[in-house]
Amino acid sequence: MSAWDGRLNVVAYDEVEAMSNYPTQAELASYRGERLRRYEPHVRLFAELGVPAGGLRIVDVGSGSSAFLYALERAGMLREGLGIELSTTRHAFAERWREEERFERVTNVRADFTRVGLEPSSYDRVTAIDETYLYLAPQDATYPARLFSVAYDALVTGGMLVLDFRNDMPVVKTLPPRGREFQVDLPETNAFETATYRQIPSPDGRLIRNESRYVGRDGTVREKVEITEVCDVRSLMDAVSGVGFESVTTYGDLSRSPFEADSPRAVIVARK
Ligand SMILES: C[S@@+](CC[C@H](N)C(=O)[O-])C[C@H]1O[C@@H](n2cnc3c(N)ncnc32)[C@H](O)[C@@H]1O
Repeated sequence: MSAWDGRLNVVAYDEVEAMSNYPTQAELASYRGERLRRYEPHVRLFAELGVPAGGLRIVDVGSGSSAFLYALERAGMLREGLGIELSTTRHAFAERWREEERFERVTNVRADFTRVGLEPSSYDRVTAIDETYLYLAPQDATYPARLFSVAYDALVTGGMLVLDFRNDMPVVKTLPPRGREFQVDLPETNAFETATYRQIPSPDGRLIRNESRYVGRDGTVREKVEITEVCDVRSLMDAVSGVGFESVTTYGDLSRSPFEADSPRAVIVARK
């Protein structure tokens, strides 16, 4: 596989959230708390976008540990959540969490999202949050369009497709050709102590190779590589509109600030 082969994204999360990272129940509990806190801004956004009586029916693509869906259930906003996640370890993490803490409204499916049949006109929201959307085009050039049409068919009239991702357009302009590297100290609740990230732009500036190296307190090292799309938000909005969505709005963060060229994130809300 070449350094720019987006099929790297299919295996990138193969060992993420492996149960061996959480040897005690206390470590597991504090990591789960960290995950839930991370989605507080998303839960606020979804409350603002509206919650029907009885709660939201949501499909989350690339649901990872399903923390976002569990946070919605805890907030009393969920009627039915379907988490679709490719990684076996992340799916297993989500399932153990669901069973141990008795979440009743979430179903976790381990699959590529293109292989899951969704009941037409049955969901209020289809989501791809964190950077999930940016992994799709490098993985398979047809995946973004397939996500838009899968979402359109699955949503009820008035339902919304919500995409939330890092806005790398301003970032890629500042990256030197050899890339940049930075280190982050992770919170105590994380199984790893530090993370070193390296971001390298492709020669045409349309992709970023993201190399992550996690070092544990016991010296354990885990590495992960993802290829992300540098997304042109205007073209993406046109592509989403082209599927038939009635309105498409982009915000610059989860608090719904106006989107600007140098906004840190792009939060796209498309209403059917
Ligand atoms: C940035 S993570 C976001 C995860 C999640 N929001 C969480 O709780 O951390 C992206 C996730 O998408 C998953 N993924 C990538 N491609 C996928 C696909 N084609 N179908 C389903 N899941 C996918 C990855 O395995 C990864 O867990």
